[in-house]
Amino acid sequence: MSKKPTLKIVGTGSFLPDTVVTNKDLEKIMDTTDEWITQRVGIKERRVIGESGLSTSDMATFAGKAAIEDAGLTAEDIDCIIVATITPDMNFPSTAIFVQQNLGAKNAAVFDVSAACTGWIYGMTIAEGLILSGKFKNILVIGAEFLTSLSDINDRSTYVLFGDASGAVVVQPADGDRGMLGSYIKSNGDLADLLWSYGGGTRVNKKVSDQEKMFDENGIDKRSTIRMEGNKVYKYAVRAMIESAEKAMEDAQITEDDIDMLIPHQANSRIIDAIAKRVNMPDDKVVRNLQYMGNTSSASIPVALDQVRKEGRLKDGDVLLVAAFGGGFTWGGLVIKM
Ligand code: COA
Repeated sequence: MSKKPTLKIVGTGSFLPDTVVTNKDLEKIMDTTDEWITQRVGIKERRVIGESGLSTSDMATFAGKAAIEDAGLTAEDIDCIIVATITPDMNFPSTAIFVQQNLGAKNAAVFDVSAACTGWIYGMTIAEGLILSGKFKNILVIGAEFLTSLSDINDRSTYVLFGDASGAVVVQPADGDRGMLGSYIKSNGDLADLLWSYGGGTRVNKKVSDQEKMFDENGIDKRSTIRMEGNKVYKYAVRAMIESAEKAMEDAQITEDDIDMLIPHQANSRIIDAIAKRVNMPDDKVVRNLQYMGNTSSASIPVALDQVRKEGRLKDGDVLLVAAFGGGFTWGGLVIKM
């Protein structure tokens, strides 16, 4: 017997930029191969903002608008907007402020959440608390990332991984047996050095003596790009994803037999294989869009959720398990009866 649901998802939306960059395109600009990327990561192509001139808030707005329409609501019905992102438009105000302005959601309180690739799960968990407190009734939770803005063309081990996208859901208080049944979020600041970007942050002051090392051999300011210890991240990622899935199911008081679909964070197909195996999910229950989207951080799960709903793969009443990990480290999972 599962727990009583807290919030329910009443609308989903997503946005992918038009420009496609294939592995073959990357072969022409850096020392990499389609074979290496396909085998080690599972990505064939990614969608990027490129020259379109869009910002993170533009993408968030498109996904948010689609989710509001899907819910049969108007922007004025939304009383809270949460944008999960690590690629904000500006240091401040929040990216959510520009989304509010673009949408005309004038009755909303808005803010950003920074939890890297787990950001949307953190956003949903915060939304759950705000719904349970009775404060808000229609919350828009968005994951939006312009990750290619952090890519360093001189670092092939990270450049090939990322894409740009946004995904959104509208949530309301649950009133029947459908909705969020379980949630789990966790962090470990001891692992902050494994995956990071200064990106204009004030912590740069603490590393004044390292200034020299902050510019690579091509003069690129490494502070503004992603740095990652891929191998170490990989090991923690697998553990964190498994823990997230197991704890979310425990919180929901269900077992893996009750799960109809798993949407894992889309970072590496080998990580997805590992978590699917551990929670006994056959391939047809595991959602993968990594191959044509790359890693889109906090957007990866809400985009996939919108896609499987619109394709009719995920139906009302199905039980969905999602799990993610990201820089910080952060990790977490949700169980949602759709
Ligand atoms: N093309 C070709 N070769 C590449 C390459 C690329 N794009 N990137 C790295 N290599 C090379 C390395 O230089 C290294 O060569 P060497 O053995 O001659 O030194 C070799 O491939 C192996 O590198 P390594 O870093 O050990 O590869 P890996 O198997 O660990 O794969 C990742 C690298 C990044 C794909 C993998 O570590 C990973 O996915 N980690 C998790 C990252 C993640 O999920 N991040 C997102 C968090 S949300």
